[in-house]
Amino acid sequence: MSPAPLHVAVTGAAGQIGYALLPRIAAGQMFGPDQPVVLHMIEIPNEKALAALDGVAMELDDCAFPLLQGMVCTSDLEEGFKGVDWALLVGAKPRGAGMERNDLIKENGPIFTSTGRAINDHANRGCRTVVVGNPCNTNALIAMHNAPDMPQGSFSAMTRLDENRAKAQLAAKAGVHHTQITNMTIWGNHSATQVPDFENAKIGGKLAHEVIDDRAWLEGEFIKTVQQRGAAIIKARGLSSALSAANGLVDHVRSLTEKTPDGDWHSVAIPSDGSYDVPKGIISSFPVRADGAGGIEIVQGLPLSDFASAKLKDTVAELEHERSVISNLLG
Ligand code: NAD
Ligand code: LMR
Repeated sequence: MSPAPLHVAVTGAAGQIGYALLPRIAAGQMFGPDQPVVLHMIEIPNEKALAALDGVAMELDDCAFPLLQGMVCTSDLEEGFKGVDWALLVGAKPRGAGMERNDLIKENGPIFTSTGRAINDHANRGCRTVVVGNPCNTNALIAMHNAPDMPQGSFSAMTRLDENRAKAQLAAKAGVHHTQITNMTIWGNHSATQVPDFENAKIGGKLAHEVIDDRAWLEGEFIKTVQQRGAAIIKARGLSSALSAANGLVDHVRSLTEKTPDGDWHSVAIPSDGSYDVPKGIISSFPVRADGAGGIEIVQGLPLSDFASAKLKDTVAELEHERSVISNLLG
């Protein structure tokens, strides 16, 4: 007998990321090949957006996915989040060329107050919420504060795309396949201050900075390329990343639900518990392991040089600043 379907809400379902993400969920790539799903596809109450959402639903019908057991297409938050097991919060405005992600905070932040409240009031108690809409760390903080009955640990924001980008850069430099790169931490904010940690990353089981004997490249071009990759994609496509973002979200959810391979970890932005002197009260990216039974923990004791510690301080300061800008939205 197949398991009961998981109810998965996706906001911004008619947007670019939604278009790349929904078929992957319906195909079983996020929750596994035996797990049926019902998609709760949420959009703004706007004629064009809802017509586009209908079109996406028609295409999903036309895929005849064996695991897709139903779709709820709505702009009503109560209907959208009722009984959901996962809330994937993608719906938000993307930045344009020349903007930083936190330039969106005033416009996008308020979205996450009503969304947080709807999750609080209507989602299943075990619902896990992942924020993708930018600036995602601080938007996740807003959603979490507006969902006081949900465990804070059920909220996360996505830095997995940054992890994957960092792996791709290290692999290219070392001339190896990206599957050789492990232990890749992104610390801090999903922003231009994020810290891709080459000091603890490994290539083929060896420390990356021993394999790539070029500290100037690691401290300079490597970090900058990862920090600026989103902007580079916007410049090239005229649109922000979508297929790699959807892929990052598939990976993110799997990293929370599947047991992390021994010795490895993944980057997830979660509420800080004070580890690595990251103050409590912000949502910051850490190296995280999952036990495969729903539990996650921050990997402790990783050494950070003065160089990395200073960068971590900067990205944390940016998160604290973002929090101060939207303090009125924290409920
Ligand atoms: P998009 O403009 O193509 O789609 C966004 C969709 O969200 C639109 O259809 C819009 O109608 C909808 N929307 C807006 N407000 C909503 C609300 N309150 N409720 C429901 N739906 C709403 O944008 P996109 O390219 O899909 O990007 C979405 C967000 O994801 C942006 O903020 C972008 O910056 C962010 N993003 C984050 C990462 C990451 O790594 N964390 C990666 C890529 C993109
Ligand atoms: C990304 O990293 O690609 C997204 O956050 C979109 C952006 O604004 O860069």
